[in-house]
Amino acid sequence: MKTKILVTGALGQIGSELVPALRERYGADQVVASDIRMMSREELLRADGPFDFLDCTNQRQIQEVVQRHQVQTIYHLVALLSAVGESKPQVAWDVNMGSLYRVLEVARVNGCAVFVPSSIGAFGPGTPQDHTPQDTIQRPSTIYGVTKVAGELLCDYYHHRFDVDARGVRFPGIISYGAPPGGGTTDYAVEIFWEAIRHRHYTCFLKPDTRLDMMYMPDAVKAAIDVMEADPARLVHRNSFNVTGMNFTPRELGAEICKHIPDFKMEYRIDPVRQEIADSWPNSLDDSAARREWGWNPRYDLPAMVRDMLENLEKKLAAEEVHHAN
Ligand code: SER
Repeated sequence: MKTKILVTGALGQIGSELVPALRERYGADQVVASDIRMMSREELLRADGPFDFLDCTNQRQIQEVVQRHQVQTIYHLVALLSAVGESKPQVAWDVNMGSLYRVLEVARVNGCAVFVPSSIGAFGPGTPQDHTPQDTIQRPSTIYGVTKVAGELLCDYYHHRFDVDARGVRFPGIISYGAPPGGGTTDYAVEIFWEAIRHRHYTCFLKPDTRLDMMYMPDAVKAAIDVMEADPARLVHRNSFNVTGMNFTPRELGAEICKHIPDFKMEYRIDPVRQEIADSWPNSLDDSAARREWGWNPRYDLPAMVRDMLENLEKKLAAEEVHHAN
């Protein structure tokens, strides 16, 4: 991969963990973080490389940052997620498609490679639900999904029409203890850990048997790096590869957490909007194309993820308490 890198949406759930991983791999100065939000004092103190304010719906600003830093690869992580997208579909279209189109244009003019995350949200009620194939029906019923399918097509178009090296993966729900996700349907699988540690209790907004694919953040970061480092000669697909790390329902996740916190209790108060979205998505993905074409191989299954999440989140919450007490 060409390693002068720009990450957009760098302060979000994925960006805040991808940036340090890229910096460790390619060097701190090689990775420019950017976001539409300015960094907080704590974030500034932790930052170990360049940061730029960047509104990705403004092509001039993207061009300026890319030129100033001689950027060769763009990780474009800006997006509104599925649940928040349904509450403001027009904004979701403007942000998700407006920013992607402008990033691809800047990539075309400057010869940059581009990573764009797609999602299980790119599938819909008509898609085969179990072991959803790499190439299948994609007729999503959310605006988020519409922008993800359109985004996949646009990336493929820029590749074959303008030779832009655009690649992506379809992420499932991503679980992490760093920055929170921005309004997704799979967010329950993140919130549950905070509530389990703090209150021994979680009220879930999805039904107990809603089955979805998920992935622990270290695997998501690995996928984003590995697909961009893949030998292009081996790629049959590009936008976007099914990837998955594990598969469970809220009930199964609760049971796994109970092995560590025996008095943990779950209740269910269903949010009809998010339930309908979850029901429209696959139960599980077939990620054999990613395994075959670029060696995708996740490291965390459900028990390993739960153990690591609880251990790290407990440490993080304890450190925050000490910080507040001082
Ligand atoms: N995690 C995302 C969401 O729930 C799916 O890509 O919207």
